[in-house]
Amino acid sequence: MSAAAVNLLDGNLVAFPTETVYGLGADATNSSAVARIYSVKGRPSDHPLIVHVSSMQRLGDWADDIPEYAIKLARDFWPGPMTLVLKRSELVQDFITGGQDTVGVRVPDHVIARALLEAFENLGGKGVAAPSANRFGQVSPTTAEAVIDEIGEYLDSTDQVIDGGACAVGVESTIVDCTSHVPQILRPGAITAVMIEESTGLKTNTVNNQFTSPNEVASESSSSITGGIIESKIGSDSPNIRVSGSLENHYAPAAKVFLCEIPTEGQGFIALASIETPPGVIRLASPRDDEEFAQILYSALREADIQGLAEVVITQPIGIGIAVAIRDRLARAANGR
Ligand code: TXA
Ligand code: MG
Repeated sequence: MSAAAVNLLDGNLVAFPTETVYGLGADATNSSAVARIYSVKGRPSDHPLIVHVSSMQRLGDWADDIPEYAIKLARDFWPGPMTLVLKRSELVQDFITGGQDTVGVRVPDHVIARALLEAFENLGGKGVAAPSANRFGQVSPTTAEAVIDEIGEYLDSTDQVIDGGACAVGVESTIVDCTSHVPQILRPGAITAVMIEESTGLKTNTVNNQFTSPNEVASESSSSITGGIIESKIGSDSPNIRVSGSLENHYAPAAKVFLCEIPTEGQGFIALASIETPPGVIRLASPRDDEEFAQILYSALREADIQGLAEVVITQPIGIGIAVAIRDRLARAANGR
C-alpha cells in the first residue's frame, strides 16, 4: 500500500475500493493532480469533491466550526458510508470545493482504503480527494474491472487501479450537510435519516427529490438547472449547495430504465428474488433483500449494457432503509438518456 501512497504524493491518480463504490483518488492539496481527476472523469470543474481521511482525528485539518451533532455522527458512523459537509478550513482550496465555502469529508470503511489513507498520511499527506471512479453521469463502479471499463483509457501509465473485489454497500455514501442547526441529507445512502436522527436527537431535513416528480422532470431545462448543476435552495441560513449526484440524469446506464412496468420479452429485469421472471425476460439480478439489492444494483445495470439490452425494467424495493437510496439512484437512472 505504501507504493500506492507514494504514487498519490507524486501527483498521480490511484483508483481504490471503498465500502460504497470505487473512488478515483488524488492528493487533495495538489491542484494539478486534482485537475486530472476532472479530466479523467470528464466532469465539470466546479463540482466539489469529497476528501477522504483515515480517521475522524483528521477532520480538524479540513473543517472549521464543526457542530456538536456532526462530531456525534462521526463517532457513531465513521469509518463508514457517510460524508459530512462542513465549513472548510484554510487548508481547503477552491479546486476541491468548486469555490464553495464548505467541504465534504469521509472516513471510508474498507481495509484497502484505510491502509492507503494511513500510509499516505504517514508520508505527510493530508487527505485524498476521490469522486466515484466513473465518467461523469455514468453508473459508479463497484468492481476494479468496472473502473477499468469506465476510465482505463483515460489513465496514464503512472496511475494505478487497486483491486479490492466487489464493494459491500454498492451505493454511494449518505451526504449530510452539517452547516446549519440541523443535519440535512443531500444524498441518501446506507446511513439513513432514522439512524441520523437517533444518533443526533435532531430531526433531519432531506433535500428533496424535486426532479423525481413528473412536473419537475418535464421542466428539465428550466432555471432550476444551471449549466448542468442543480442549485438546491435549502433554507435561508444555507448557501446554495451544488451536488452533482443530484443531477436528474445521473447514474444512468446506456439501456433505458423503466421503474413502473411489467417486463416483457427481450427486456432486462432486476427485482427481489421473491418476484418471478415472466417468460422471455432476461433476469439480470435477484437480490434476496434491500442490502443485497444495493450491493448488486450497479453491476446489474452494467451487465445490461454488456449484454447490449435496450431496456431494463426494475421493480423498486419499498423499504425505508437503504431502499431510499436505491430508489433515489433509480429515479435518476430512469431519467437518463
Ligand atoms: O461513497 C462515496 O461518497 C464515493 C466514495 C468514493 O467515497 N464518492 C462519491 O464521490 O460518490 P462523487 O464525487 O462521485 O460524489 C460526491 C458528491 C457529489 O455529488 C458532490 O457534488 C457532493 O458529493 N459534494 C462534495 N462536496 C460537497 C460540498 N462541499 N457540498 C455539497 N456537496 C458536496
Ligand atoms: Mg459520482
